[in-house]
Amino acid sequence: MKIIATGSSVPQLELTNDMLSQMMDTSDEWIRTRTGIQSRRILSTESLTDLAIAAAKKCLDQSSLQGSDIDYILCHNIVSDIVTPSMASIINKEIGSCCPTVDLNSACTGFIYALDIADSLLKTGKARRILIVCAEEMSHFIDWDKRETCVLFGDAAGAVIVEDGGDETYFHLSTKYTDALNCNSKYASSPFRKREMPYHYLEMRGRDVFKLAILNSSNDIKKVLEKANIKPNDVDYYLLHQANIRILEAIRKELDLPEKSVPHNIEKRGNTSSASIPVLLDELNRSHTFKKGDLLAFSAFGAGFTSGACLIRWQLD
Ligand code: ACO
Repeated sequence: MKIIATGSSVPQLELTNDMLSQMMDTSDEWIRTRTGIQSRRILSTESLTDLAIAAAKKCLDQSSLQGSDIDYILCHNIVSDIVTPSMASIINKEIGSCCPTVDLNSACTGFIYALDIADSLLKTGKARRILIVCAEEMSHFIDWDKRETCVLFGDAAGAVIVEDGGDETYFHLSTKYTDALNCNSKYASSPFRKREMPYHYLEMRGRDVFKLAILNSSNDIKKVLEKANIKPNDVDYYLLHQANIRILEAIRKELDLPEKSVPHNIEKRGNTSSASIPVLLDELNRSHTFKKGDLLAFSAFGAGFTSGACLIRWQLD
């Protein structure tokens, strides 16, 4: 599988740590030293669907393809703007494609799961060119009265177009249940099932998530490198889920990697869940960081507890 285009979109509103410290009992110093985050973008006037469509269109522009050239759309979001139709169906209409569409949900690991499914669709010949869009509005379901979680997240959408061809892409995925990270939101009651609970926000045991993230990500990366029979330093860039700079540093040290091989944008984006890797990928692509033939590793983890890693050769000039 090869990535033939990338795109991303973030909201207009930039929410800095200093702005947060006006809203609650926190400080730029606490947030920066514990997480690496300085600011994040938050949806205010736009919708999540707007971001998703913008990211998809940027991908098409970069590749000079039309919507009609896409023959499958995989969209990933923890929560969409509406219950149905899927966000993928709306993107299908907006870009002028007419193809199968589906929304996935595997929390912050979503981009890796979507790539894995895309790889299978391409290998079986069910699709030739797939648009993947990861769009997340974390600000919608975090509790803004809980300083331990609300300072961590941002909103964003990232997208790629993938085609068959290039070198083998390797994956290692897993899910092992934990209740360390949950959002037990409500649905309306039916005559047969009463749901009296109010809206549930994201709940997180931060220290447990911290440890699980390092353990799972390091293991997944080791497994995927083993499958491809290569060593950690043979990989040019590790694009890790942007959850916390200290998590990224711990994974980097565990694998004994040089600093430059683990790029990050958490400083200005915060944790944007499944959008974090495709947004980082797009920013690095547009700043001409990669050269053709570079080996990229992606690794993410999230509620579930889902985690996964992927190894892919960069094919763009
Ligand atoms: N501002 C100021 N003080 C704060 C804040 C804040 N925003 N949040 C918590 N504190 C206080 C706490 O109340 C506590 O005070 P106390 O000592 O008086 O009790 C103190 O800071 C220390 O709190 P801890 O929770 O022990 O801080 P810790 O060092 O564990 O850092 C953090 C917390 C940043 C949440 C860390 O545990 C973490 O990053 N965990 C991983 C979170 C994560 O990555 N989640 C998402 C991954 S999966 C996904 O992407 C959905």
